[in-house]
Amino acid sequence: MDQYTEEIQRRRTFAIISHPDAGKTTLTEKFLLYGGAINLAGSVKGKATARHAVSDWMEIEKQRGISVTSSVLQFEYGGCCVNILDTPGHQDFSEDTYRTLMAADSAVMVIDASKGVEAQTRKLFKVCVMRRIPIFTFINKMDRDARDTFELLDDIEKELGIATCPMNWPIGSGKGFKGVYDRDRQMVVAYSDTEKGTREGTATEVSAQDHGALRELVGEEAADKLLEEIELLDGASAEFDLEQVRAGELSPVFFGSALTNFGVEIFLKHFLEMASAPLPRKADKGLVDPVENKFSAFVFKIQANMNKAHRDRIAFMRICSGRFDAGEEVRHVQGEKVMRLSQPQQIMADDRKILTEAYAGDIIGVFDPGVFSIGDTLCSPGEKFRYEGIPTFAPEHFARVRQVDTMKRKQFVKGATQIAQEGAIQIFQELNAGMEEIIVGVVGVLQFDVFKYRMENEYNVEIRLENLPYEHIRWIENQDQVDVGRLTGTSDMKKVKDMKGNPLLLFVNSWSIGMTLERNKDLVLAEFGRS
Ligand code: G4P
Repeated sequence: MDQYTEEIQRRRTFAIISHPDAGKTTLTEKFLLYGGAINLAGSVKGKATARHAVSDWMEIEKQRGISVTSSVLQFEYGGCCVNILDTPGHQDFSEDTYRTLMAADSAVMVIDASKGVEAQTRKLFKVCVMRRIPIFTFINKMDRDARDTFELLDDIEKELGIATCPMNWPIGSGKGFKGVYDRDRQMVVAYSDTEKGTREGTATEVSAQDHGALRELVGEEAADKLLEEIELLDGASAEFDLEQVRAGELSPVFFGSALTNFGVEIFLKHFLEMASAPLPRKADKGLVDPVENKFSAFVFKIQANMNKAHRDRIAFMRICSGRFDAGEEVRHVQGEKVMRLSQPQQIMADDRKILTEAYAGDIIGVFDPGVFSIGDTLCSPGEKFRYEGIPTFAPEHFARVRQVDTMKRKQFVKGATQIAQEGAIQIFQELNAGMEEIIVGVVGVLQFDVFKYRMENEYNVEIRLENLPYEHIRWIENQDQVDVGRLTGTSDMKKVKDMKGNPLLLFVNSWSIGMTLERNKDLVLAEFGRS
């Protein structure tokens, strides 16, 4: 293999998904620690510092003490070049969180062992399924009292509809947590509570076949329970099958404790072995192979105002094929222009490193003078093709937007349109009306504040938001075949249109969606909008 091919083959690009507080930040920090990307001091500062460090870009973030933006972290481990796409969590859950998944080749799902599958995990998981990317599960916080292991796996299978294959098996939990049984090697690895922030220690191991040693290591009761569970497990759980894992049909499950460094490195090692290198991606000219083709990338995120002094925008792009060389020109397909990308950089927490080259699998941020849109393709000047568009994800909160000063019509329209273009919010209009009154839809409520703040600070337009009761939005898949004006839905249903004029339906609850489909047999609704 030549060096160029090797560089691409050794890339692993993944996103970490979880419900807030499951331990995503802690796990990421531990990964970075093993990869040597951050020093010990950085990791023990705790999440408050880590979160603040990510960004001070917007006042609102400072006020709330959370980060609205997400970053990309790169580190080396075991010969792999690993790219972690951090997804914003907590209340700042946004469409960006979904879009980040469009740029990842696989996902790591972190689940709190005492809670099981939670709301945000479920939502993000849906996007992974839509993309059919492999999903690796890390069940965290085993040092705390956990739910029954079989129940946890059952929960994942039922709630998410994916088969699971435990790669290791926990022995007890909380105070009684003794370690894990490695199914492949049939060894029991004893739990040792290494100090916060230090590397995983060398664990004591015994063979599960050696019952005497096993009893001595974990105690009689735990040993008997384990042997019983192993028997049950070998009979009941899905067999490990790498093909199925890579097709996103089977999730390998690992147990551990990110905080105390138990099981993290083993997980990372196995995960990097199982996860695939950058895969071919769909474009209008067919599949684009990462190695065979020259440079190509697509924009999956646009971040405004990263540097307040310059009011700049950064377009984040995922390189899908070839090598990016900062000195060379590229074609921006949608903009119909050949250009040199300005200030290509890698965004690492609060640090930005100027890049000279990057490979398929990597994420780069470039200065955007306002020419890029989400989903745009970039390729080498001699080529011209487009990657499959990024879907529009369903907002869950809606508000009517009113201008306080109606004289500022122009700025109002400009601000709302530009912010929507960046993908932070979606805007809709009444089916038969213009921009005089708009409805804004967001995935996470914090985006309402961001929108209001930016309209006031960047566009000098004061707005009022009046919350609307809708929680569901559906695109009409077969809009050419239905007369939207004559659709009969439920009394709470609202007909709107997006910026491109596509009709959509708003509903207060999921029951109304069912009723509407019932009443209009020909209607086909979709949860994702095609761009
Ligand atoms: P998130 O990014 O998914 O939101 O979760 P984060 O890593 O911030 O972890 C949430 C809380 O859970 C943190 O505690 C963290 O220390 C704790 N935690 C993470 N992994 C484990 C684990 O394996 N075992 C135990 N017992 N706790 C874990 P916090 O009190 O909210 O924050 P901090 O003050 O400890 O930083």
